[in-house]
Amino acid sequence: MDPSYQLLADKLHRQIDARTYLPGDRLPSVRELAKDHGFSLETVLHAFRLLENKGLVEARVRSGFYVREPRLRLIAAPTKTQTIFRAKDVAVSSLRHQTVTLGTSKHVVPLGLSLLGSEVLPVRKLAQTAASAARRYPGETSNQGPPAGIELLRQQLAQRANAWGCFLSPDDFVITCGASEALHLALRAVSQPGDIILVESPTYFGVLEIIQGLGLRVVELATDPVQGIDLGDLENALQRFNRVAACLLVTNCSNPLGYSLSTKTKHNLVRLLAKFGVPLIEDDIFGELHRPETERPKVAKSFDQDGSVILIGSFSKTLAPGLRVGWIVPGKFHDRVLELKSATSLATPSLPQLTVAEFLKFGSFDAHLRRLRKFLAEQVYRFSCAIAENFPASTRISRPSGGFLLWIELEEDFDALELAAEALNRFRIAVAPGNIFSATGERYTNCFRVSCGHAFSPRFAEAIQTVGRLAARSSAPRRMANSR
Ligand SMILES: Cc1ncc(COP(=O)(O)O)c(C=O)c1O
Repeated sequence: MDPSYQLLADKLHRQIDARTYLPGDRLPSVRELAKDHGFSLETVLHAFRLLENKGLVEARVRSGFYVREPRLRLIAAPTKTQTIFRAKDVAVSSLRHQTVTLGTSKHVVPLGLSLLGSEVLPVRKLAQTAASAARRYPGETSNQGPPAGIELLRQQLAQRANAWGCFLSPDDFVITCGASEALHLALRAVSQPGDIILVESPTYFGVLEIIQGLGLRVVELATDPVQGIDLGDLENALQRFNRVAACLLVTNCSNPLGYSLSTKTKHNLVRLLAKFGVPLIEDDIFGELHRPETERPKVAKSFDQDGSVILIGSFSKTLAPGLRVGWIVPGKFHDRVLELKSATSLATPSLPQLTVAEFLKFGSFDAHLRRLRKFLAEQVYRFSCAIAENFPASTRISRPSGGFLLWIELEEDFDALELAAEALNRFRIAVAPGNIFSATGERYTNCFRVSCGHAFSPRFAEAIQTVGRLAARSSAPRRMANSR
């Protein structure tokens, strides 16, 4: 009879084959397996070593054993970007506008925008919840609510904040029309035209549009595709520039690269910014979409001592982007943000707020999130494999710590803009070209972002094949020319 470690290794192998654990998932800990199955720690470790030797799992320092991504094993992550120690105006780009407008068209394959397909959203339950909220609160639904938002929703958010590492009260929140309005209010509350905002690079293009609209400038901070920003560079920028009004970061499952800052980095980040008296605008819109098997990452706000961290979130990436319900915890900028909110839109529409509040209270939001995380991890894996199969061998693909976005990097002289234009005009496939993720549109011209927020159907498989063909065709002549 086989020894215990072999039997255990076989069982785990079968579970991996049956996709009980997906590539990237953390396997149960050595301790858990030992306790649950009555093995010694040594036996379990031995079993893991066998799986490691077969290339099925990988050990990560102080974290455990993870299922390896077989087809993606050889694909490199995107290259680390560089800090540009120069304050830049954001250039207006019709491309950004085009990406957003066309991204929601029914007639294109939507690989461009970070939106979830309606097949993933709890549309039926939301419709029922909206109907019952309208019946239950007829007065509130028809009337204009307070500028800070409906208390029922702020209560639900305050309860959820414990899981983010924060102790917040309903009065700490202001409800907004999506995270977009929250970002707008935060930037207006902390800055004057001409001020500098420190952003990660590449960064979410919507932020750049708001910054441009407010007459602000940016300094783009280097990012590592796994670790995120470098605090040394941040400190350097804080020392060099004296009109820094804020640092704006997506701290968990960032857009577009998908990294999450470690808890330690978040702590040091808050300390460093406090030393320079610079507020942090923390966009946590993807925080609930961490990898299914990991814990909900904390927010940097959890280390805030004096209200200088402005936390932002939204239900656009988890429940329904059409509801346009987001929120902001403005910290010490609360009164200013409330004033600005009132002056901008008076209040957020009541019915979407009541719908979200009721869904959080009665609609099994957490069960929905658990399903959604697992579904998205699977889609990210399937899209990544399809890209790995259909794109030139030198293609680099990000490995997001959650969420549903992929950042694709091709060879340096590749023109992603040309690719995006041809994909759209000839094949009605929308991808987001890399240059819209930088201030002046001159960087990341060899990159693009792909959204995996839809089920990977034959329509998407075909679209990836087409874009891969376009990429291979553009790469081939260049490689030949270079080799001459
Ligand atoms: C990082 C980030 N922040 C904010 C937003 C805007 O969110 P909302 O749709 O809630 O306005 C998005 C949308 O893609 C995003 O990716």
